[in-house]
Amino acid sequence: MSTPREVIVVSHPMVQHKLTLMRDKNTSTIGFRRLAREISLLMGYEVTRDLPLELVTIETPLETMEAPEISGKKLCLVSILRAGNGILEGMLDLVPAARVGHIGLYRDPHTLSPVEYYIKLPDDVAHRLVIVVDPMLATGHSASAAVTRIKQAGATNIRFVCLLSAPEGLAAFHDEHPDVPVYTAAIDRCLNDHGYICPGLGDAGDRIYGTK
Ligand code: URA
Repeated sequence: MSTPREVIVVSHPMVQHKLTLMRDKNTSTIGFRRLAREISLLMGYEVTRDLPLELVTIETPLETMEAPEISGKKLCLVSILRAGNGILEGMLDLVPAARVGHIGLYRDPHTLSPVEYYIKLPDDVAHRLVIVVDPMLATGHSASAAVTRIKQAGATNIRFVCLLSAPEGLAAFHDEHPDVPVYTAAIDRCLNDHGYICPGLGDAGDRIYGTK
């Protein structure tokens, strides 16, 4: 059981360096997308750091040995569309056998509240460690709504991974879901009046897909 309201800032130099490149407004779409994939593999490394291992018997070309492999519950990655898919790719590079769910939420531009338009989760999500991915934890509303839906599907072991978070969003998210640890590469200063993280990196979806 994790500590309630846990926030893990991944301070690894490679993560911080890549994040700085992503923040830079002069980074191209191709560069941003590649960095999102690379940094999320590194974030995946941290979020899976404490997975339990068990010894299995294998044959190397030379002899029999007891070697460690990941035991227990298998993973399910859940991407919050659409920007979550930019993180999903790198996570799948790390855990290619993971099951994948998708939740489509958009922010109502006036209320900033999440509106669900799509959900598809694996049937056995209740029996898996669920890692929810979205690059930006801004107001925390989308993240909270997504985790609520995943809990309704029966999941009890959930972690949230983002690249940037705002203090307001972290507080709001943990008010709703104190049991869900958040892994983030940085906690930025604040949200602006439009719900964007400052200094931030802009609109993550637009930067990943080149839509603006
Ligand atoms: N979503 C984004 O893509 N960027 C922000 O700064 C906030 C929410």
